[in-house]
Amino acid sequence: MCHTTAVILAAGDGKRMKSDRPKVCCEVLGKPMLSWVTDACQEAGILPENLCVVLSDQPREAKKLVPQGATVAVQQERRGTGHAVMMAETFLKEASARGVGEVVVLCGDAPLVTPAVLEQALAFHRENDFCVTVLSAELADGAGYGRIARNNGTFVRIVEAADATAEELAIREINAGAYWFKISYLLSVLPWLTDQNAQAELYLTDVVELAPRLGGRAGAFVCLDADIARGANDRQQLAELNRAARARVLDALYAQGVDIPLDDGVLIGPDVHVGRDTTILPGTILKGHVTIGAGCVIGPHTTIIDCDIGNGCTIDASRLEKSCVGNGVRIGPFAQLRPDCVVADDVKIGNFVEIKNSTVGKKTSFAHLTYIGDSNFGAGINVGCGVVTVNYDGKGKYRTTVEDNAFIGCNTNLIAPVRVGKGAYVAAATTVIEDVEPDALAIGRVRQIQKPGMALRYRKTH
Ligand code: UD1
Ligand code: CA
Repeated sequence: MCHTTAVILAAGDGKRMKSDRPKVCCEVLGKPMLSWVTDACQEAGILPENLCVVLSDQPREAKKLVPQGATVAVQQERRGTGHAVMMAETFLKEASARGVGEVVVLCGDAPLVTPAVLEQALAFHRENDFCVTVLSAELADGAGYGRIARNNGTFVRIVEAADATAEELAIREINAGAYWFKISYLLSVLPWLTDQNAQAELYLTDVVELAPRLGGRAGAFVCLDADIARGANDRQQLAELNRAARARVLDALYAQGVDIPLDDGVLIGPDVHVGRDTTILPGTILKGHVTIGAGCVIGPHTTIIDCDIGNGCTIDASRLEKSCVGNGVRIGPFAQLRPDCVVADDVKIGNFVEIKNSTVGKKTSFAHLTYIGDSNFGAGINVGCGVVTVNYDGKGKYRTTVEDNAFIGCNTNLIAPVRVGKGAYVAAATTVIEDVEPDALAIGRVRQIQKPGMALRYRKTH
């Protein structure tokens, strides 16, 4: 499909969604709807330079979701889906001049369309030499969707719910809002669209009824998986999309040998890959681009966002973001890896440990109650309870380096920038303000004073 283009309609402001964000930014399984659609296009082989996204003049976060290299067309006023496509006219003319013959028009609020269905529908479109092929599906609850009206089986037009008669409303076959066009036909039909309808909008759906007049034939490609056609105009439909997408993602994971004994509170995004024999326990949220190896136990109550995790890891009741974790790592309960951590194999990160923007070498252990920020910890280091890297002086952030096989005693403060050399030993409760030489012992604490009998006297007088 690399010689085809796509136009994604995403300028709607989503009044029915009652959101301050553009509708296409609303998320399904933690991923914005628009990103589902742009990814489907790219996975189907449509290059970013052949992709055009129609956004409103106040696109806010939606603009950030447009893939690099793609075109943004701006629609100043929301005058309907046909009008939105008109905003992509220059893009379509340029694509046509480059020799591209077909365009798929998609809605940014219908995220479950798959690359496979786009490919099958294109093959059907070409075989039948249609000027437009509409993706349709049978939905029992197709209330607000456009209906596919047929005359003796021949597809004649799409009737919007707002314009439909009671008889037409009873039709189960609905318009998924996705269409393959010959670009030449789309460019020639756009001037024919009018707003003579119940919503006084320029409907893209009128392209079907207009086809014979312009010497073409329209077809409908029926998607067997009706979920593909689902769009979300309001929160209820968004929840339905989440349910449908969740079933799809979980089924794929079961098929790959992932164990999810109880899926309560489990939310896994579509860009998550999990190895076989990994168990995912209740309350686990895996969002963004996440890879988890084989034989891990993840959860309960764990959130992982944009991370790579190796094989044989245990992550219990913890939160990890934008980090890389090796094999055999044990994390939690109640630990946090904030962005930009790289953790090597067999590391232990125990309860109430927070690590941020740091590297950690093999077999290093932070067993409990520790903050490690902006640091490089080598391999084989034991970090006692209550160790803190003092990385911030109110103005700048500074790095701490601890070399292989060092031992950092409990309640040590490492005042950055500072370095503890290989094999050095820092005694408990030391405040390290100077670099510690390799193999040295550093002690920096107030000497203890003993006052014999003082406690006894105190008890008697109080
Ligand atoms: C549309 C279809 C309907 C179909 C349904 C599938 C029309 C007239 N109707 O209805 O047949 O069953 O999708 O989900 O096309 N948009 C713009 N600019 C506009 C209006 C809309 O960019 O001026 C965008 C929206 O952001 C959205 C998409 O186009 O992503 C569809 O618009 P929406 O208003 O949701 O259309 P539906 O009423 O759902
Ligand atoms: Ca819609």
